[in-house]
Amino acid sequence: MLLTLPHLLTQEDVLTARTLLNNAPWTDGRASAGEQAALVKNNEQLPHDCEAAQHIRAMVLRGLDNCPTFFSAALPKRVFTPRVNRYGGASNFYGNHIDNAIRSLPTGQRVRTDVSCTVFLNDPQDYDGGELTIADTYGEQTAKLPAGYAVLYPGTSLHQVKPVTRGQRIACFFWVESMVRSDEQRRLLFELDMNLLRLRQQHGETAETTALTGVYHNLLRMWADT
Ligand code: NI
Repeated sequence: MLLTLPHLLTQEDVLTARTLLNNAPWTDGRASAGEQAALVKNNEQLPHDCEAAQHIRAMVLRGLDNCPTFFSAALPKRVFTPRVNRYGGASNFYGNHIDNAIRSLPTGQRVRTDVSCTVFLNDPQDYDGGELTIADTYGEQTAKLPAGYAVLYPGTSLHQVKPVTRGQRIACFFWVESMVRSDEQRRLLFELDMNLLRLRQQHGETAETTALTGVYHNLLRMWADT
């Protein structure tokens, strides 16, 4: 399932991020890629411990905390440290690849990469190319979203960032280990949850919404690993 999260970051967040990114210490993105991915990766990224990366990371994590749609879609168990990356100039693409299934946090704790998320930090008109394309069950999907918007997609999918031919594409990127490993099961839970929300908005609480909320929680109990 591909899902857009509009306004995950506020306009103020985006402006702060841009100021922080002036003179930020960009490094070669291949350092953090798996073996196959390193062959096709050609971008730049910020070290986790630099000031800009720390601030932007905190901003993104706060945005996620305030976004119930993210929670419903990803059912997060752990979030891997968000990273800031840049495509432009001579380092301008990331060819087709599938991300490594398991990443390790500095604490040694492992994170299974069930869900991937890209948060766009600048606007589509700032650059040409740079589309994120994702091979989905229904064909190839493309995401190139306004600053502050995010896209969620399954970690299992083949994806790429097309070459940036003008300007710079700056984004924050992270993985989520979900309480529910299967993309299909997460999608069913998300659809049920979102439709329950709409039913409640239209009709208030009814015996049916109460019963279906029970179904939601019992499915979550059956499928979730906490
Ligand atoms: Ni990737």
